[in-house]
Amino acid sequence: MTLQDIINDSQRIVFFGGAGVSTESGIPDFRSVDGLYNQKYDYPPEQMLSHTFFVRKTSEFYKFYRDKMICLDAKPNKAHLKLAELERAGKLTAVVTQNIDGLHTLAGSKTVYELHGSVHRNYCTKCGKFYGIDAIINSTGVPTCECGGIIKPDVVLYEEGLDNDTVNGAVSAIASCDTLIIAGTSMTVYPAAGLVRYFKGKYLVEINRDATAIDDQCDLVIHGKVGETLDKITV
Ligand code: APR
Repeated sequence: MTLQDIINDSQRIVFFGGAGVSTESGIPDFRSVDGLYNQKYDYPPEQMLSHTFFVRKTSEFYKFYRDKMICLDAKPNKAHLKLAELERAGKLTAVVTQNIDGLHTLAGSKTVYELHGSVHRNYCTKCGKFYGIDAIINSTGVPTCECGGIIKPDVVLYEEGLDNDTVNGAVSAIASCDTLIIAGTSMTVYPAAGLVRYFKGKYLVEINRDATAIDDQCDLVIHGKVGETLDKITV
């Protein structure tokens, strides 16, 4: 069966995506050869994106975070736009993403479970006041709240847990879909990658440039670019 056949035969598609969905928007992924984790820094990027590093070296965290995690000139690509179109057509029930760039929402998707949070949401660690991304990009050093507290991005850092409501929403969407499309993710980071075990529908599809550990479990594997692949789909 082709991807088009599977989509034609599906009414409740869920899309589970990772950093590879945003590379065609110009945002590097993490583990490809040109990915963030293969670039040279004073500390390993996975260490800089940890809770401990945020607490102990907050100004160094923000230097890396502003430099590498916020890509404001990135625009939704063909993958994001096609998924929003599938949702509007009533074929797709949810996007579950590991990405924090907000591009699915920007593309018009309504039901998006951001497992690792979003750069567009920031909170004061003292009083809980919400701040948009402007509070981060229009400041230097460690951004602080009017109350004097440190503002922290609503992004799941290493050592931190995922938001319960977000996980519950993603699990129920995956558990009740008829087709799960997994794309642009190396499927190496848990618990996100583990949510796929709740799938019990008809078709498991993977669209990924490189092979992953779930290739042999899938009904259809496409080793290619997710934007280009989805752009060929007619809704
Ligand atoms: N089309 C299809 N696949 C692509 C594309 C593309 N245009 N570009 C990259 N890929 C694939 C790569 O082959 C790779 O397997 O996307 C995958 C990206 O894998 P990672 O870089 O590991 O990104 P991801 O799986 O999202 O990482 C998960 O790790 O550090 C944490 O919180 C971070 O959310 C992130 C998590």
